[in-house]
Amino acid sequence: MPFNHNDHYHRLLLRHLPPGCRTALDVGCGTGRFARRLAASGIEVDAVDPSAEAIEAARALAAVGADGRAPRFRHADVTRVELPRAHYDFISCLASLHHMPFETVRTLRESLAPGGVLVVLGCYPEESRTDWLWSLAAVPVNAAARTAVALAERIRGTRPAGPDAVRAPVAPPMMTYARTRREAAGLLPGARMRRLLFWRYLLVFRAPAGADSGHAPAPGGDGADARPQRRDG
Ligand SMILES: C[S@@+](CC[C@H](N)C(=O)[O-])C[C@H]1O[C@@H](n2cnc3c(N)ncnc32)[C@H](O)[C@@H]1O
Repeated sequence: MPFNHNDHYHRLLLRHLPPGCRTALDVGCGTGRFARRLAASGIEVDAVDPSAEAIEAARALAAVGADGRAPRFRHADVTRVELPRAHYDFISCLASLHHMPFETVRTLRESLAPGGVLVVLGCYPEESRTDWLWSLAAVPVNAAARTAVALAERIRGTRPAGPDAVRAPVAPPMMTYARTRREAAGLLPGARMRRLLFWRYLLVFRAPAGADSGHAPAPGGDGADARPQRRDG
């Protein structure tokens, strides 16, 4: 597989699994690589995507894995399905939130069990000088990583085929980093957000351990508080 910016961050995202995590939802799962990683660590995983082709590939790849644990792949638009309330210990959106209205996070928040964690690996268009600096810094690292992966593939003589060759739908992000931060402050109080290399950000929201999920500031997480700040940094 070519160097993939989303897959590159799997390990970082897995570090945010809450202790004793039993149930997870992967939103916009594409061909299901992250969902399979979650399932492989013993978590009961639901994974949704409105792309029939991606879901078909995800199911085929999960069957090939055959380690006894497979995610439940559902062909669905997450903005149109009814999600169980206060249910999931972990919800992930990898490069998928920008395909839907940002307010979708409200439904996701309500579907988190007390103490549950929502992680968003998000994409954003450059707007500020800081955005451009981060993008510029990513260019040489990206080129080096792509070359290294391509060389390794050539040496191994492997080329993706069958369901492995399916690509999940992509869309250009429209919501800037600064605006995402402002919206997150309102809808996910206490969420933490920070930039990552490769045109991505990480947003982490932890639901309060009590019953009133989503209405109190959440402790912990990575990076800076998502509450609006004067400068976009
Ligand atoms: C760029 S792909 C990312 C796929 C996967 N998460 C990954 O890391 O490779 C974005 C995915 O979001 C899915 N998507 C778009 N709109 C969606 C929606 N309303 N509900 C759930 N998934 C959606 C697309 O079909 C696509 O598979």
